[in-house]
Amino acid sequence: MAQRFPAEFRWGTATSAHQVEGCNRNNDWWAFEQLPGRIRSGHRSGRACDWWRNAEADFDRMAELGLNAHRLSVEWSRLEPEPGRVDEASVRRYRQMLQGLRERGLEPMVTLHHFTLPLWVARQGGWENPKTVAWLGSHARRCAEWFGDLVDLWVTVNEPNVVAALGYLQGRHPPGVRNPVRAVRAIRHLLRAHAAAYRAVHEVQPAARVGIAHNLRPMDPARAEHRGDRWVASWHANWFNWMWLDVLHTGAWHGLLGPGQVAECVGTLDFVGVNYYTRDRVRFAPWAPHAAFGLHGPTPGAPVSDQGYGEIYPEGLVRVLREVWARYRRPVFVTENGLPDAADRWRPRFLVEHVGAVARALSDGVPVLGYYHWSLVDNFEWQDGWNLRFGLFGLDPDTQRRWARPSARVYARICAARGLPAEFLGGTDREGPWDSIEDF
Ligand code: FCB
Repeated sequence: MAQRFPAEFRWGTATSAHQVEGCNRNNDWWAFEQLPGRIRSGHRSGRACDWWRNAEADFDRMAELGLNAHRLSVEWSRLEPEPGRVDEASVRRYRQMLQGLRERGLEPMVTLHHFTLPLWVARQGGWENPKTVAWLGSHARRCAEWFGDLVDLWVTVNEPNVVAALGYLQGRHPPGVRNPVRAVRAIRHLLRAHAAAYRAVHEVQPAARVGIAHNLRPMDPARAEHRGDRWVASWHANWFNWMWLDVLHTGAWHGLLGPGQVAECVGTLDFVGVNYYTRDRVRFAPWAPHAAFGLHGPTPGAPVSDQGYGEIYPEGLVRVLREVWARYRRPVFVTENGLPDAADRWRPRFLVEHVGAVARALSDGVPVLGYYHWSLVDNFEWQDGWNLRFGLFGLDPDTQRRWARPSARVYARICAARGLPAEFLGGTDREGPWDSIEDF
């Protein structure tokens, strides 16, 4: 029997401005890409997927797949290239894109900050500067004024935990810092900026639904019986996964440096956006203070996506959806889920099993309102450049040629059935019905 989802369920894909638009020269990521050794293989975002010129061709692909939703971000550095100066042409272009989505029956969900900061913000200290809180709030307010007639679903900040971990602890994202004290300062401002953006959107558009997109990865001990592994896994899970959402729920902070309050954050989640990719096994490593005493890796023998990106673990999505609902009692969107898999070896089955995980969470009573696959088309994958291919469609960034991977057809079948068609249920061996699915 086919597995059906609620009629109003959003079936979408997700992208972010810098990864797809091309030629975003006025933000911290573009500057970072120019520094030697920062991006694998010396890659750069360049024209990316050429969306600034022609996102509409990919919107047509979404419509062909039968999607009814898409999550995208607006690039702050385009809209406000210098402090207080609005670029009207960029406002018009985003309105055109949002209208283009609507005309194709695709409901937009818009992220206000997805990793990139305008250079003028970055130069004044970025997330370490308390003024960035109010600046993001003003950006949010203006976006609600410009686009509110076309957008009801807003994400304030994408993955603040990844910004903190990769930008301020591991130094792999801008500003390339490895310093826990500076990280804590950035974390507080990221959380307060979320709250400022939440309030600003609601002041303009009281009926909007505003949430965050948070990267959640189960962290399990490498050795179930090992006390050190259990301790470090739960410590890492707390600070990476839960501390953030707990603060937004209760205002209480149990951060890296002890307890505290971030009072303005209380009750600033209309929904929780879950970005789910993988889980980690964590092994206690007392000799590795730089890794916060825990080394992360996949379960030995488990399937792993391209270049060791992560274990393929659909059960983890059920786990995080259940836990989010148990803790916060807020509606949930799966705002990102996907894997790097250039050969499309795993993706068809990955899609079926992760959509199946959403179905299980729904049948447990978790109000999941949508699923946005990362991503429609291969795009610029931050510090990994063009090495990791997340697209339902492949892309040659030099020629801009695209091709549908078999999984595009699988997702189209899921969207057409508004759930998992019977032919996709049951089998768990790698040879699924998708092997016979013709390209398009
Ligand atoms: C997430 C990011 C997104 C993309 C995917 C693969 O952490 O939000 O921009 O890079 O990973």
